[in-house]
Amino acid sequence: MCGIVGYIGHRDAFPIVIKGLQRLEYRGYDSAGIALFDGNTINLSKTKGKVEDLKKKSKEISMAGTLGIGHTRWATHGVPNDVNSHPHYSNSGDLVIIHNGIIENYESIKQALQNRGYTFKSDTDTEVLINLIEEVQKTEGVKLGKAVQIALNQVVGAYAIAVFDKKKPDEIVVAKLGSPLAIGVGEDEFFIASDASPFIEFTNNAVYLEDEEMAIVRLGKEIKLRKIKNDAVAYPNILELQMNLEEIEKGGYDHFMLKEIYEQPRAIMDTYRGRLLADQGIIRMAGIDQNIEKFVNANRIIIVACGTSWHAGLVAEYIFEDLARIPVEVEYASEFRYRNPVITDKDVLIAISQSGETADTLAAIKLAKEKGAFVFGVCNVVGSSIARESDAGAYTHAGPEIGVASTKAFTTQITVLTLIALKLAKEKGEFSGSKFHEYLTELETIPAKVEKALKSNGLVETVAEVYKDSTNCLYLGRGYNFPVALEGALKLKEISYIHAEGYPAAEMKHGPIALIDEQMPVFVIATKKGHYEKVVSNIQEIKSRKGKIIAIVTEGDVQVKELADHVIEIPETLESLTPLLTTIPLQLLSYHIAVMRNCNVDQPRNLAKSVTVE
Ligand code: G6P
Repeated sequence: MCGIVGYIGHRDAFPIVIKGLQRLEYRGYDSAGIALFDGNTINLSKTKGKVEDLKKKSKEISMAGTLGIGHTRWATHGVPNDVNSHPHYSNSGDLVIIHNGIIENYESIKQALQNRGYTFKSDTDTEVLINLIEEVQKTEGVKLGKAVQIALNQVVGAYAIAVFDKKKPDEIVVAKLGSPLAIGVGEDEFFIASDASPFIEFTNNAVYLEDEEMAIVRLGKEIKLRKIKNDAVAYPNILELQMNLEEIEKGGYDHFMLKEIYEQPRAIMDTYRGRLLADQGIIRMAGIDQNIEKFVNANRIIIVACGTSWHAGLVAEYIFEDLARIPVEVEYASEFRYRNPVITDKDVLIAISQSGETADTLAAIKLAKEKGAFVFGVCNVVGSSIARESDAGAYTHAGPEIGVASTKAFTTQITVLTLIALKLAKEKGEFSGSKFHEYLTELETIPAKVEKALKSNGLVETVAEVYKDSTNCLYLGRGYNFPVALEGALKLKEISYIHAEGYPAAEMKHGPIALIDEQMPVFVIATKKGHYEKVVSNIQEIKSRKGKIIAIVTEGDVQVKELADHVIEIPETLESLTPLLTTIPLQLLSYHIAVMRNCNVDQPRNLAKSVTVE
């Protein structure tokens, strides 16, 4: 994972790189570093810890320079410490590199370099790469750009790198394979970053490198891209970005996560806006319209995803099978790609990914494409690798999600997948016109109902107070709300470090029931539509074993209220749309518990938002 930032231009690079790194901390935050070049001296500072620690440490030394590169790390090779932090020098001290990714064959290269007298300070694969570049420069007598290209043709792995050479003060060389890299194009200045957020206040123009492309970013010159393998010239496509600064700041909230939870009414509306046309009785989605035959004639739909996106995929399985009557399989991308799956050209594969960069999901879609399946991407980040690699797709319009624990990405993914399922159900004739219309109008009421569900915040906070010191929690749901139970449990463990398990409510009696005693909080989703009576029986089973019951119920519920220790109400809706509402109090609950336990809500330990390693 890791985030990389670079700047070359006429401004002081230090504040630009530091601020940029802070915006990219969601990508990893166990150590950070920066190197600046003022034309004579390289000023390098790095430390274990966060970018804030780096900022403090850097005050002790001169940090001048109009060329700078910086890195925020999620450790792969070598423990997080000062030495393993990036940037890394080459042995001569002339070359400096930052790297996001993994060089898989670094051991053999390191050995060969050691035999030639190179020494290494860190345990990283990155220090090996920069010395390989230096060795190529020396032995082949080539300039930096060429040396980077030759070296990259010798490595196996993934990378987004930025390298500069003390002898070439006007340029930074960048290259990409597998990890993202964007170049912001300003007036006589360039920005380099893992995504556009570090440079959005300076320029709206960006070039996203494709895999196996490199560029020499040189002052006074236009960007020229080259293919790393065969040196072919590629022409940069300069995109105009839509993102604005406000979207990536906290806007008065204490944490990004809370802001993003509260953004959900708007995010869901933005996701169906222009697609759901209830008055005309249609759903318009270009990616589906243009490929409708592929979906309607598909043998099955395979959904691949990781983490929270996988949970959205599980909800989609219920929706697609229930409404559109198309068989669906949902797979962890990491398992799918390695289990020699049976894939044919009659399959449609839907890849769900907030970041659009998750390495396992990307690999899964490449595999499916090779086998002839039609690949449809559901991503949030526009222009991301998965979006580009897919045959077609539909963006969620959640806006930038910064909190590592995913919230609005989840509900907007469900929104997009619901639109697709409804469209296919209509196309296949599974729905009468009136039923279709009922769904469309109900979907339009969801933002207001999410708004109402958010009003439970105060009550949820008091529930959080009661259970904040728990060591284990159980989350139960059935049908459409089984994946919500999984997601509720994931949210709690991610940010509060409390062990939590999600289960289908009926499966409780096959194991988890053994855990229930008076110490065990059990969060049960017991909405009126969705196997209500069955869930009530499960609640009885918990009660007779003295478990604490916190139930998410439909407004006006009476029966569960009598049994549960706490109830949190959500507005009534169609069964298939309940996940969009039941999720809300569970997100708020984990948020408040994490705050009460003094956990770092937006940047939980050991996690990263964009997982570009497998
Ligand atoms: C990481 C994040 C999760 C996310 C998962 C999949 O683990 O911390 O929040 O759900 O990756 O990410 P994606 O970007 O593919 O949805």
